[in-house]
Amino acid sequence: MEITKICCIGAGYVGGPTMAVIAQKCPHIQVTVVDLNEQRIKDWNDPNTDNIPIYEPGLAEIVAEARGRNLFFSTEVEKAIDEAQIIFISVNTPTKTYGKGKGMAADLKYIELCARQIAKVAKQNKIVVEKSTLPVRTAEAIKSILDNTGNGVQFQILSNPEFLAEGTAVTDLLNPDRILIGGDTTPEGEIAINALVNVYANWVNRDKILTTNVWSSELSKLTANAFLAQRISSINAMSELCEKTGADVNEVAKAIGMDSRIGPKFLKASVGFGGSCFQKDILNLVYIAKTYGLNEVADYWEQVIIMNDHQKRRFSNKIVQTLYNTVADKKITFLGWAFKKDTNDTRESAAIYVADDLINEQAKISVYDPKVSRNKMLSDLDYLETRSVQENINSLTIFNDAYDACKDSHAIAVLTEWDEFTTYDWQKIYQSMHKPAFVFDGRNILDAKKLESIGFVYKGIGS
Ligand code: UDX
Ligand code: ADP
Repeated sequence: MEITKICCIGAGYVGGPTMAVIAQKCPHIQVTVVDLNEQRIKDWNDPNTDNIPIYEPGLAEIVAEARGRNLFFSTEVEKAIDEAQIIFISVNTPTKTYGKGKGMAADLKYIELCARQIAKVAKQNKIVVEKSTLPVRTAEAIKSILDNTGNGVQFQILSNPEFLAEGTAVTDLLNPDRILIGGDTTPEGEIAINALVNVYANWVNRDKILTTNVWSSELSKLTANAFLAQRISSINAMSELCEKTGADVNEVAKAIGMDSRIGPKFLKASVGFGGSCFQKDILNLVYIAKTYGLNEVADYWEQVIIMNDHQKRRFSNKIVQTLYNTVADKKITFLGWAFKKDTNDTRESAAIYVADDLINEQAKISVYDPKVSRNKMLSDLDYLETRSVQENINSLTIFNDAYDACKDSHAIAVLTEWDEFTTYDWQKIYQSMHKPAFVFDGRNILDAKKLESIGFVYKGIGS
């Protein structure tokens, strides 16, 4: 089966970069990314590719190369579905905020809408690919909708989870550790799997393309994220113990990371993990386990989230305690708001929760982040519904310059590990602050000795 036309529903953090790379690497395939959100599509079509809606190193260049050649961004969802042989579903699957499974299960309403739209429009056989992270057995639900409401055409459903991390999306897509494709073990299923394998084989070595049954593929994605998040909660749990015992968590991480069975990655203690995936996927896993009555399994994984919430709260408590048990009307400057460096994404960022805690203590928060806009920060806080929109505006001041943000502050808190923070003139910052000048390094990126020699009171994580 020769693939010449692909469509992707959802022009978000997953759909946009993934399709840009497929288009770049497969000039013979026409790739159309569609979204209901007109502004988002307009931004993807901005003549200046520096203004595309997602910031990822290297992405603007790829979009500049492929856009208009074989990469298109459009709001004409039905036309794109009709023309494509392969349809990727890359829409958002947030945690449910209502009804059964509220706060835990994945909300599949956007997925279902996509399936219904595909069923309505398709006049020829199609391969439908789940790209969004989904609960196990979602493919079955999609298949049921397609087969029962469609025009009698044949659909093959594949699961092809995306493992890219934000900030390194382009390199992860260009050099993936593996590509995972799950599909039916029927002859038609095999044909569909091979068609997708051949797309990736344009730039990925075939040894790295794994094929499995659909359920293994769906569960592997949840498992990978659960394991990664678990490592962070494990080292963060140790960071608290280190603070009590005089051990240094960086030294502990290095010592255990040199054990080749453990390995050095994902052992960086921090103010807590954020991002759109870890919490959502673990909650989803917990919900699925509970659904099957596997309460011990559910409790085991839930502890990863409980530890992460504790780590965020512990950080804000430490700021309050250190500042003589009151931060009321004190200016506390946040360096960073994104959930990690090199991205403008703020979903579930620890900064949001730490700010919320400190505003409850009547602190005045100033923020500088190189990539996150003022509106985004305010809407993140408003989303928590802790206080009125106006009160959030009064409590949060956003600066375009880090030195201005730090001026006259009582304390600085590093929430994101942006490289530029390590290159600042810390002597100059010290001079502009109230004394004693405190630094709470939620990412352990600053040079503690150097800061202390300047005169700062430095508090890292886990030492
Ligand atoms: C994650 C997975 O890595 C990716 O495979 C999946 O497709 C989506 O979810 P992402 O959320 O983009 O990717 O970022 P990741 O680099 O995994 O970081 C997640 C959070 O953990 C960030 O807040 C990061 O700062 C934090 N983190 C990561 C730590 O606190 N310590 C570490 O050692 C590593
Ligand atoms: P992710 O991180 O999973 O990519 P995003 O929220 O960044 O999630 O992107 C998902 C995109 O999917 C959004 O831009 C949203 O507008 C789009 N979307 C959701 N449902 C539909 C639909 N039925 N048709 C087209 N686009 C959709």
